[in-house]
Amino acid sequence: MPKKEFKTPISDNTVIIGPSSGHDNIIFAIESSCDETAAAIVKNGREVLANVVASQIKTHIEFGGVVPEVAAREHLEAINVVIEQAFEQAGIKGEDITAFAATVGPGLVGSLLVGMNAGKALAIAYDKPFIGVNHLNAHVCANFLNTDLEPPFVALLISGGHTQIIEVKSYLEQRIIGETIDDAVGEAYDKVARLIGLPYPGGVNLDKLAQTGNPFAYKLPEAKLQNEFDFSFSGLKTASLQLIQKLKKENSTLPAADIAASFQENVSSTLLKKTKKAADNINSATIVLAGGVAANSEIRKKFFALQDNGYKIYAPEMKYCTDNASMIASSAYFLAGTMNSLDVEVFSRM
Ligand code: KG4
Ligand code: ZN
Repeated sequence: MPKKEFKTPISDNTVIIGPSSGHDNIIFAIESSCDETAAAIVKNGREVLANVVASQIKTHIEFGGVVPEVAAREHLEAINVVIEQAFEQAGIKGEDITAFAATVGPGLVGSLLVGMNAGKALAIAYDKPFIGVNHLNAHVCANFLNTDLEPPFVALLISGGHTQIIEVKSYLEQRIIGETIDDAVGEAYDKVARLIGLPYPGGVNLDKLAQTGNPFAYKLPEAKLQNEFDFSFSGLKTASLQLIQKLKKENSTLPAADIAASFQENVSSTLLKKTKKAADNINSATIVLAGGVAANSEIRKKFFALQDNGYKIYAPEMKYCTDNASMIASSAYFLAGTMNSLDVEVFSRM
């Protein structure tokens, strides 16, 4: 594994970071790409010493979704508190941190700026390296927290903004096998939840409701695509809308639980089928779930059932599926690459 060398901002000292550094790495990380303000301290990419998350759910419920300007302001209010709490939880001082890290993208620019600048300020104040982290890589790295997972494996990344099947060849080498050509899974969940009349945050509420419904009540369509490992959820979304409109006309009360369960059955079966085939194609028996939607009960159930057929399945603990800073720290440790100076800027899209 290549040695990754970093410079400290004030004294210009060299610090080596990562599994081959030969010393313990204590990384302080910040996540603020969307609607959670989070700080964490993680030892050697796996051992969580502190994990603090301030959720903005209460604020955004009022608007039925995340309003970027409101999110950025909320991050500003929460950032110092979560940083202090993380130091307190771990019982560690700034001097003892090996490097500071923060998400630099993809995400909401105003929100990212708050976390990234706080991370840079800490790096300058304590004269430690700063590492910019890609949020998507970090979701996959959530699987390294409190486990002994090592590449190679196949990852299914399912979040509010992305849906990808990734071949993770080594800590530093990845190949995208398939991805969505329109909506992300989380986005589809949130939109269909709104159509059914569920409050924000839609995904988790739809999941809860689905558990009380009949998954085979309604047959919803599955997209046929040129690359069999790609995804498309816009047709499913339209079919769900048409079904809901039809049922509303026919019934005095909408059979919401059956619709939710049928939608969830459709999505989870598609994700399972494609990911399993992709893993089989490259002879990988290890499959890893990542991203906020990896918290979904039915998706977890279907994938973990593959263990009966000899597959090794990993999914982060619930609190590390949705946005958190421990996964950012883990990614900084294992993947720290080019975004490692104070000059790095935030970016909204890949
Ligand atoms: O990874 P994440 O926290 O943020 C992004 O990076 O996008 O993912 C958020 C997404 C949202 O779309 C949310 O509705 C969805 O994950 N989500 C779920 C569940 N929990 C969160 N979707 C389905 N079932 C869940 N239990
Ligand atoms: Zn995320």
